[in-house]
Amino acid sequence: MFKVQIKNGPTFSVKPSQTILEAAILAGINLPFGCKSGSCGSCKTKILEGQAFHEEIMPGVLNEAEHKTGQHLLCKTYATSDLIIEDTYSVETNFPPKISPVRVESINQLNHDVIQVVLKLPAGESVKFQAGQYLEFILADGSRRAFSMANCPGDDLIELHIRVIKGGKFTNYILNDMPEKSIHRIELPLGQFYLRDAENPIIFVAGGTGFAPIKSIINYMIKTNNNRKIYLYRGMRFKKDLYQSEVIDDWYSSGLDISVFNIFSDEEVDGAKKKLVHQQVLDDYQSLHDFQVYCCGAPGMIETAYHSFIEYGLQDSNFFSDAFTFAPK
Ligand code: FES
Repeated sequence: MFKVQIKNGPTFSVKPSQTILEAAILAGINLPFGCKSGSCGSCKTKILEGQAFHEEIMPGVLNEAEHKTGQHLLCKTYATSDLIIEDTYSVETNFPPKISPVRVESINQLNHDVIQVVLKLPAGESVKFQAGQYLEFILADGSRRAFSMANCPGDDLIELHIRVIKGGKFTNYILNDMPEKSIHRIELPLGQFYLRDAENPIIFVAGGTGFAPIKSIINYMIKTNNNRKIYLYRGMRFKKDLYQSEVIDDWYSSGLDISVFNIFSDEEVDGAKKKLVHQQVLDDYQSLHDFQVYCCGAPGMIETAYHSFIEYGLQDSNFFSDAFTFAPK
């Protein structure tokens, strides 16, 4: 048994067979977390003193440079000595997650298999989050589903893009138990997918509904007059998978320095060959050395993009990802 002390906070015990996050939850200690599987980054915390073992993790959630400074994902870390860890809530970019009731304002079909769900917080309630973060829906049986927020901080309404999965539990829940005006519970904000300060041009890679957090970040950039150059690649299988093209038109007319590319892997559209989205990025640049890349979508797409982009000169510390692995199977 080892002792873990949160700097200027409580101490709890951890067995060598437990992750630090598991031990903290069992001890009733309030630490941020989301997926518990190393893919969302919510539990990222600095170990200030002591030794720990870190399991392998998803690319882009914790990079080498961060790990070297002592950052760990506590859901993937085992103590091998007594530890002192940072109080994560003292870090300015972390807003403590909270559970809140929400009302369903509207449900709209965005394309053949993506639904937009718009939620409203109780009057007078607002929530602080960083553009790109996600929330969790808490279902009646206590299980949860994670969805990125497509709205931007400061907006009155929360916007989610939900892919309808035939026979899926949450799809059934939306269709049967979530009429407009019904009340539900959510927890937010969660995750570490947000824009990092830098001057580098940005490549966003959005697979399917991975467009949602990227929409949030880009709208936030407009709101805060952030004029970094943006290249957005949207990866889809077919033309019918495209949605919210009107948002892109608004971005073009906003004066934002943005170029948007729709890449289809299973259909030739307007004479363009079928291609995987990461391949189009590789084809368009001689090197990725000077870019920051933000990638959101299926884990396979993120893994492939990460490895090929790093080989193509991207610096490890400039790759950020949000994989759809946190929804329980
Ligand atoms: S809770 Fe640890 S990475 Fe998601």
